[in-house]
Amino acid sequence: MSVFADVPQTAPVAVFKLTQDFNNDPFPIKVNLGVGAYRTDEGQPWVLPVVKKVEKVIVHDDRLNHEYLPILGLPEFRSASSRIVLGESSPAIKENRVGAVQCLGGTGALKIGAEFLRRFYNGNNNTRTPVYVSAPTWENHNAVFASAGFVDIRSYKYWDSVKRGLDFVGFLADLESCPEHSIFVLHACAHNPTGIDPTQDQWKQIAKVMMRRKLFVFFDSAYQGFASGNLEKDAWAVRHFVSMGFEMFCAQSFSKNFGLYNERVGNLTVVARDADNLKRLLSQMEMIVRTTWSNPPSQGARVVAITLTSTQLFSEWKNNVKTMADRVLLMRAQLKAKLQALGTPGIWDHITEQIGMFSFTGLNPKQVEYLIKEKHIYLMASGRINMCGLTTKNIDYVAQSIHDAVTKVH
Ligand SMILES: Cc1ncc(COP(=O)(O)O)c(C=O)c1O
Repeated sequence: MSVFADVPQTAPVAVFKLTQDFNNDPFPIKVNLGVGAYRTDEGQPWVLPVVKKVEKVIVHDDRLNHEYLPILGLPEFRSASSRIVLGESSPAIKENRVGAVQCLGGTGALKIGAEFLRRFYNGNNNTRTPVYVSAPTWENHNAVFASAGFVDIRSYKYWDSVKRGLDFVGFLADLESCPEHSIFVLHACAHNPTGIDPTQDQWKQIAKVMMRRKLFVFFDSAYQGFASGNLEKDAWAVRHFVSMGFEMFCAQSFSKNFGLYNERVGNLTVVARDADNLKRLLSQMEMIVRTTWSNPPSQGARVVAITLTSTQLFSEWKNNVKTMADRVLLMRAQLKAKLQALGTPGIWDHITEQIGMFSFTGLNPKQVEYLIKEKHIYLMASGRINMCGLTTKNIDYVAQSIHDAVTKVH
């Protein structure tokens, strides 16, 4: 009898399973719209030219080695990351109350932040503090907070499926009715999976209620630059909350905007009340990291730090991000135009109204199943598609297939 005999089998992670099914599909014409990564118009992964360049610089720099990094990570990476989200001239940075923890991707930043909050926020080890995530959200949010020990994970209203837009009234009502001190995970921009963000005016109202109701803001910034193609604009919400005086966390991922998915480059920016609070808080973060991964990997962090701290490389990176954002915009415009030209029933304006990498198509689970089984087009059961999975070569096939799904399957 094995000591592992009682280990239950658990379900595979949907997005990885989808890619596996796609890879195993022998059909010659197939499209993967499920993957959460950028693809070129040739359907290939893209190593950003600026990343290639910086990697060469790193290889030839004899001053670098493979010694351990400090527990909290590469100092220049941490500060450059915080500056990119909070802004060069952020008063909070000038007041020495911003700190950071280099983490393993955005997921690692959420995890370290969640572990800290469970230990020290709203009382010690208060696992009952409600954690609110948007309905719907990136599927890992619930699990990360649950695995940190939080037992009361709830959702706040976000998506209005009839309007195919933001349920702002429902969102505000949840902010008003939740217990004080609840934690709210907010997508900084390019909401995954809906592609719908609050407007600046709506963010202002959200911030006001959250301040009055003493709610904790935990931003998740996984797509800075992807929403609008402009880094400043995509950080607007985070900066607004900082300007209101919130103490808050912001998990940053450089997986998408640097294309450094497997290097696991993330940062947890912490905005504290003052330098003294920050010092104590970072000392505890250090203990949490020490028992989690001890210290982080250097390669991706070096790439990001070198890029962000050089005027020339920074400008090259911004162009690379714009290249990706523009391709997504082009695919959005083309898909909508093709569906309209086909006379596909329904209104397809949401495809161009949504932003970021994903589109929440509004296709129902049966239509999704039809697309996978009959057309070999792989997408998430929620109807979410990655716009980068579309190319000028497969877009006609995808549009016609969506048309067939909508007209044949109800
Ligand atoms: C909303 C959101 N947060 C966080 C992440 C995690 O990113 P990373 O791969 O850097 O852990 C993702 C990745 O898909 C995401 O969509």
